[in-house]
Amino acid sequence: MMQNDLFSSITPVMEKLAEGVFLFRDYVDTEYFYTQIQDIFKQAPLRHMITPGGKRINVSGTSIGKAGWYSDRKGYRYEMIDPVSQKAWPAIPQRFMEIANKAAARAGFEKFLPDSCFINCYEPGTRLTSHQDQDEKDFSQPIVSVSLGVTAIFQLYGDQRGGTPMNIPLHNGDLLIFGGIARRYFHSVKKLEKENHPLTGDRRFNLTFRKAL
Ligand code: SIN
Ligand code: FE2
Repeated sequence: MMQNDLFSSITPVMEKLAEGVFLFRDYVDTEYFYTQIQDIFKQAPLRHMITPGGKRINVSGTSIGKAGWYSDRKGYRYEMIDPVSQKAWPAIPQRFMEIANKAAARAGFEKFLPDSCFINCYEPGTRLTSHQDQDEKDFSQPIVSVSLGVTAIFQLYGDQRGGTPMNIPLHNGDLLIFGGIARRYFHSVKKLEKENHPLTGDRRFNLTFRKAL
């Protein structure tokens, strides 16, 4: 875990993995993130959504921000009110905003002000099938992803759903950005191995910050 405040004079390393794809290893204060999301889950519980085709999504999720990504029989969309709690989604903590904004600026995406953040919870054996993030309005804004807990292999394809992906292991505290030409690349997460992490037990959490509206 990187103490961004303590070492704020040291510029964290940013790796450019491909055009539009940037990785900051061990970038966020994971204890802080984990504490915050525990609190968030009390207000907007993790839930298994249903695809428009009627399949249960194995990875559970919830949202923070003005808009929350949602899926059920009616389709994929953003909702302002959480259909489960019937309340607005919890706010994105200010510090989350600052971290996402600062990393995005380093990667060349100025003024990234997310209004939505989807939080995924992966249990052992769950995976995310290949998809594009395409329910947002402004594709000039990147996706900023933060990973917590057990390592997963994030797979980035291209404009096609399949083919040979770039395999990116995402560890606790890593921050990944995909924007520009890569903003609508297909991506998936490989089946989570059964492992134990001191912060999250056998689970992995991922937060994707987006400009949705
Ligand atoms: C997603 O594509 O929605 C999540 C990606 C991840 O869990 O790393
Ligand atoms: Fe995605």
